[in-house]
Amino acid sequence: MRFTDKVVIVTGASSGIGEGVAKKFLEEGAKVVGCGIEPAMKIEDSNAIYVQADLTKFEDAQNVVAKAVEAFGLVNKLVCCAGVTFIGSLENTESATFMRELSINLGGVFNMCKAAMPELQKHEGSTVVTVGSDLGVHPIPERIGYCPSKAGVIMLTKCMALEYAPKIRVNCILPGLVRTPMIEQRFQEAEDPKALEEAYASLYPLHKMGKISDMANAIAFLSSDESGFITGEIMHVCGGSLI
Ligand SMILES: NC(=O)c1ccc[n+]([C@@H]2O[C@H](COP(=O)([O-])OP(=O)(O)OC[C@H]3O[C@@H](n4cnc5c(N)ncnc54)[C@H](O)[C@@H]3O)[C@@H](O)[C@H]2O)c1
Repeated sequence: MRFTDKVVIVTGASSGIGEGVAKKFLEEGAKVVGCGIEPAMKIEDSNAIYVQADLTKFEDAQNVVAKAVEAFGLVNKLVCCAGVTFIGSLENTESATFMRELSINLGGVFNMCKAAMPELQKHEGSTVVTVGSDLGVHPIPERIGYCPSKAGVIMLTKCMALEYAPKIRVNCILPGLVRTPMIEQRFQEAEDPKALEEAYASLYPLHKMGKISDMANAIAFLSSDESGFITGEIMHVCGGSLI
């Protein structure tokens, strides 16, 4: 039970990786404050609350922190999972769509961290983990907004790690493909889902897609005292795609 007496805000807890992370923290004794754009999360637990928030708005991020303190008295862990993937090239993407993706994926992390830092600073051993992507390091076609937004998350993480050391450790994970609702639609639309899974697996030296639990385990490690000498780290949890 690494997170007894810890209170964690998990953004994007209404789906996919964020939902898995919220469950992991609950299993390990934490109180969890989930947030996301949906009206509710699926997790029902007396140690968890949910706050609907559009993290492109700083006031919504501030409200998540206020509700967390109201419910559980403090916040000493933050995990930023919320994000979107829009598909498109420079040529076929509208400027407003590009700005929207940056505003959710990068601006949302900025807003949540800025809102939470004053509360995190009050407590010893506070941590932040952000979720980037291997595509923030290695671009692929048709991700004209996504790749730069995730590159931004990587650098934002390093900037915050410097700014808040030694008090708060700030780290980032770079997932490879994980079968979450963000990806599920591609399987539903595929003529041969098995072939698609094989095609995705072949992108990775470990020859498989990631699991939500792979991401939750890495995030739990970076949020725990076991990683006490690690900050500003960009952890590749992507099956070797960046080797
Ligand atoms: N699934 C993958 O293959 C994969 C790979 C690399 C990186 N990632 C990253 O992992 C994170 C989680 O991805 P996922 O696959 O679990 O996605 P998902 O689509 O299952 O969940 C996305 C979450 O983000 C939240 N969200 C979206 N817009 C928001 C907004 N404006 N304000 C607040 N919350 C908002 C949603 O409410 C939802 O909870 C994302 O940052 C994504 O870029 C995912």
